[in-house]
Amino acid sequence: MEYTPIRISTVMPKTAITFALYIYFKDQFIKYLDMGKSLDEELLSKLKKQKIARFYIRDIEELNYQKYLDDVLGKTMDDPQVNMVDKINFAEGSATTAVEDMQKDPTSKQSYNTSKRAAKTLRRLISENPDSLKNFYGRAGNENDMLIKHCLNVSALAVGLAKVNAISEEDQDTLALAGLLHDVGISQLKESEQALFTKEYKQMSAEEKVIYHQHPTLGSDVIKKNELVTPDIIELVLCHEEKISGNGYPNKKSKLTLAQEILSLCNSYDKRVTIFKVSAKDALKAVQMDELGNYNLELINKFKKQLKEDGIVV
Ligand SMILES: [Fe+2]
Ligand SMILES: [Fe+2]
Repeated sequence: MEYTPIRISTVMPKTAITFALYIYFKDQFIKYLDMGKSLDEELLSKLKKQKIARFYIRDIEELNYQKYLDDVLGKTMDDPQVNMVDKINFAEGSATTAVEDMQKDPTSKQSYNTSKRAAKTLRRLISENPDSLKNFYGRAGNENDMLIKHCLNVSALAVGLAKVNAISEEDQDTLALAGLLHDVGISQLKESEQALFTKEYKQMSAEEKVIYHQHPTLGSDVIKKNELVTPDIIELVLCHEEKISGNGYPNKKSKLTLAQEILSLCNSYDKRVTIFKVSAKDALKAVQMDELGNYNLELINKFKKQLKEDGIVV
């Protein structure tokens, strides 16, 4: 039998599962919970204490798991009884799985569908729950994997900024998805070159910049191979490092759509916070000074207002 790992946070407590859950213990897979049963909160917190982050499911039940996620997405996000922490955990777990899957297998239709579902979950979390952005932004992702954390944060911030710009829900979903996928090109670089992601741009040599500048094109080229990926997603990924001053890359574009500009701005802000550990307040100051002319002033001002209103910058 073959098994696939799934994140514990994607299994909702008190919801019957449509597949059996296994854990990996002493070199073997042991059945943990039967199909039709549900996890209780006590059991879940015990697992968290033991630092168990994954369950396993049998490969042949993968489709059941995908259907379960679709179902849970609707129920979890619609249910006023589900508290914010559970909603955030679910959104974070789904989005982390999506980014990991796309890094491993960026042309897979299944990874893409997982990402679409995760993006919708994240969009609903941020746009329907006041305070969720602040709570999500402060904790999203695994500390050991800054790239994933960055993608989740960019996605959440972009949804927030799209909302205040009165962008439709459908386009917010697109932006949320592009946020999750935008740096997929980093994992397309050679392993030795991937460390450039955590190097300050100003510190890069001219040769390193040439290499690093390839990542938006590598990302859009690889997702393009999947026929399910729409042109607006491909363009958003390609343009996420472009600035309206023409100082971005890879194509030095000076005309961006509002969605592309939002994604680029959120990317630029979050890279400072998540990767270079600049405080939220200082990152905002840096954006206001260093990115002047790179984005519309009105958009920067809206971003600033949003970060303050949401309590991210105090
Ligand atoms: Fe990037
Ligand atoms: Fe990025």
